Amino acid sequence: VGGRLRPVSPQELANHNTQNDAWLAIRGRVYNITHYLPYHPGGPEELMKGAGIDATQLFDKVHPWVNYDSLLAKCLVGPLRFDLPDPE
Ligand code: HEM
Repeated sequence: VGGRLRPVSPQELANHNTQNDAWLAIRGRVYNITHYLPYHPGGPEELMKGAGIDATQLFDKVHPWVNYDSLLAKCLVGPLRFDLPDPE
């Protein structure tokens, strides 16, 4: 499945910031949280605060103990990369 991962630029991450299409980055990994939104124990609105951005600090402020990487394993898009050209 590693072959399906691909790097994501901050601009592409920022383009996915709506409830129907939400991505979020934590510690350099980008996740598609769209389908997790209804299941977030803190509610979709709280989780949407991190949509389209690096949400590491927001996440750590609330629940640094939560194993996001395991919960979102199937939602992993790929690594956040700062040296990519903008998407079309
Ligand atoms: C709980 C906010 C990201 C998983 C909560 C709660 C808040 C919150 C306020 C507390 C709800 C309550 O006790 O009533 C946020 C914010 C996030 C974020 C602001 C980022 C912008 C995530 C992510 C995951 C996650 C990425 C994992 C995929 C959970 C879990 C709980 C929780 C499992 C329950 C934790 C516990 O009770 O120990 N969240 N969350 N959250 N969130 Fe998040």
